[in-house]
Amino acid sequence: MNHLTRRPRRNRKSDVIRSLVQENHVGTQDLIYPLFVTEGQNQTVAIPSMPGISRFTLDRLLDEVGLCVDLGIKTFAPFPNIPEEKKDRFALESKNPEGLYLRTIAEIKRQFPDVVLATDVAMDPYSTDGHDGIVDNGEIINDASLEVLGQMALAQAQAGADIIAPSDMMDGRVAHIRNILDKHAFYNVSIMSYTAKYASAYYGPFRDALESAPKHGDKKTYQMNPANSREALIEAELDTQEGADYLMVKPALSYLDVIKLLRDNSNLPIVAYNVSGEYAMVKAAAQNGWIDGEKIMLENLLSMKRAGADIILTYFAKEFAQYMKR
Ligand code: PBG
Repeated sequence: MNHLTRRPRRNRKSDVIRSLVQENHVGTQDLIYPLFVTEGQNQTVAIPSMPGISRFTLDRLLDEVGLCVDLGIKTFAPFPNIPEEKKDRFALESKNPEGLYLRTIAEIKRQFPDVVLATDVAMDPYSTDGHDGIVDNGEIINDASLEVLGQMALAQAQAGADIIAPSDMMDGRVAHIRNILDKHAFYNVSIMSYTAKYASAYYGPFRDALESAPKHGDKKTYQMNPANSREALIEAELDTQEGADYLMVKPALSYLDVIKLLRDNSNLPIVAYNVSGEYAMVKAAAQNGWIDGEKIMLENLLSMKRAGADIILTYFAKEFAQYMKR
């Protein structure tokens, strides 16, 4: 009848065959779950722009970590919600050993020694300016900010962090942090650099969660222009030279090409940050019944793997782990 020798559909003819030829997979072990911690006790505060995600007081956060561990999630990225009265221009609260964040790190590691913590280094949660570096006359001062970031990273390592994740985009911070960590014999504490972090409107819900939006101006003098991809290679080259152990691209879905670019140009593990706005869009459409939220979650995570991500930081981690258990 006809003479089609090549019939790609043969490799799609059943579930089993489709699984045999499947090129990419997502597993719970690939995911890092971000967590929001807030001061006080016995409180879980839902974040309206991120349905399913809450800010937890430390006692409740520990319960949440326990639940997630039982689901197979092993790696977490905690972020602190700092009350306004503890903020200042220099983010001093970030190195207070009795402060919320360092206590949180120490307590999670004490109760769950096998859990891996990737801790956030940037000034914005602690800064009255809401910027990731020191602000002087409206300008974000790079080199003075490095001092603060280095001290913050050291304090987190002392509290028990396994991986330091600088999200600030100051120049030279990976080298500076590596140097301080090594000087204090934290040779085995890793650095997961936010290598290509774009100045993105997709961070809106996260800034609601932490109450950390910039009080003035925007982050365009340090975060990257969404129009650029070659610039991501410059950042990747520098982070690699400076000693990064992981390279991150953030956001993920609108930047799959950048994930692929770094994958093709580096042998380091590539991390995709599936950010708050990407999560919120899926949740909003699903709540309206406009899309199938669970299928979209799976498709999105798979897309990031296909683009070349080894690891995905995602607010969907718990939901994905629950799905895998079923
Ligand atoms: C700030 C930081 C941001 C996110 C992670 N770390 C926001 C920003 O740069 O303003 C965003 C994460 C998300 O949107 O999920 N250092």
